[in-house]
Amino acid sequence: MKKVTVVGAGHVGATVADAIAHKDIVNQVVLLDIYGDMAKGKALDIWEQSPIGYYSTRLKGTEDYKDTADSDVVVITAGIPRKPGMSRDDLITTNAKIVKTVTESILKYSKDPIIIIVSNPLDVMTYAAHTASGMNRNKVFGMAGVLDTARFRSFIAEELNVSPKDIQSLLMGGHGDTMVPLPRYTTIAGIPLRDMMDEETITRLVERTKKGGGELVKLMGTSAWYAPGSAAAQMVESIIKDDGRIFPCCVKLEGEYDLDNVYLGVPVQLGKEGIKKLITIDLNNEEKELLNTSANHVKAVMKVYDDLQK
Ligand code: NAI
Ligand code: 2OP
Repeated sequence: MKKVTVVGAGHVGATVADAIAHKDIVNQVVLLDIYGDMAKGKALDIWEQSPIGYYSTRLKGTEDYKDTADSDVVVITAGIPRKPGMSRDDLITTNAKIVKTVTESILKYSKDPIIIIVSNPLDVMTYAAHTASGMNRNKVFGMAGVLDTARFRSFIAEELNVSPKDIQSLLMGGHGDTMVPLPRYTTIAGIPLRDMMDEETITRLVERTKKGGGELVKLMGTSAWYAPGSAAAQMVESIIKDDGRIFPCCVKLEGEYDLDNVYLGVPVQLGKEGIKKLITIDLNNEEKELLNTSANHVKAVMKVYDDLQK
């Protein structure tokens, strides 16, 4: 019996549940929200789609944590999204309390789940959940890099008029304007990006990626959900299938990249135990400097979180 719980049945949470159901890889997805009827309604709607979507995964909507018992993986999307003019960091006061309480409630009913954080500000909410959980860092980590890399890859595909399927890339750092897309680690069907794109265009796409979340907030008045939902579901799939895939995820660094006690996106290998392996790659001086700037930004927001706990 494989079971996934998604906490928060809003835009992102419902999309995660829907994407996981379509993959047909688990027996049950539980969708929990403080608005229980909304969670029940969305779960029922996704279940009614099963004969068309062709999956057997059962859905349960609830407001009761008892229904989340013995989850293998939990995805936390609970919290408020940003509105135009807000940064992700502006959400900290509200979302810190929510993410901490949700983590504690989940752990009352599931002994050793893998917890994926989605709520913003992502890196610091991962810090909040990880510290509240008291679990090993390989069990509590955040989704951002899969989304941000997908944005970069989709922009490259559009610019070069090639299939996004052929684009591989890596992006590190925090989930904010200081994120570090890595053109040097980006290829198109194995061909280095710089062989196919001029520097000016690369810089433009890197800048668009860094502000990719904001671009959507401006268009929709709230933040994105399709790509974020698919990104979290892809991480869940890799954990459930234990297929050894590598993604950039937000995790506590303990000396890697000469950074300590900071939650940052780095490449990791996922598997049934959560993070199987944290991968360290070579960065040149410019890339290291960008990663350090991102780490300093995240540390400053971690300090805001620490001060809120006093
Ligand atoms: P939303 O407002 O559509 O949904 C949030 C849901 O959380 C609501 O249904 C609300 O009732 C629920 N909720 C609030 N407090 C709760 C609690 N204590 N327990 C259970 N449920 C609770 O927001 P949306 O668009 O789904 O975004 C959710 C979060 O995900 C936001 O913080 C947003 O910034 C973040 N996000 C992060 C991304 C990432 O890349 N890491 C990408 C997109 C969104
Ligand atoms: C995004 O990047 C809001 O963090 C979310 O779309």
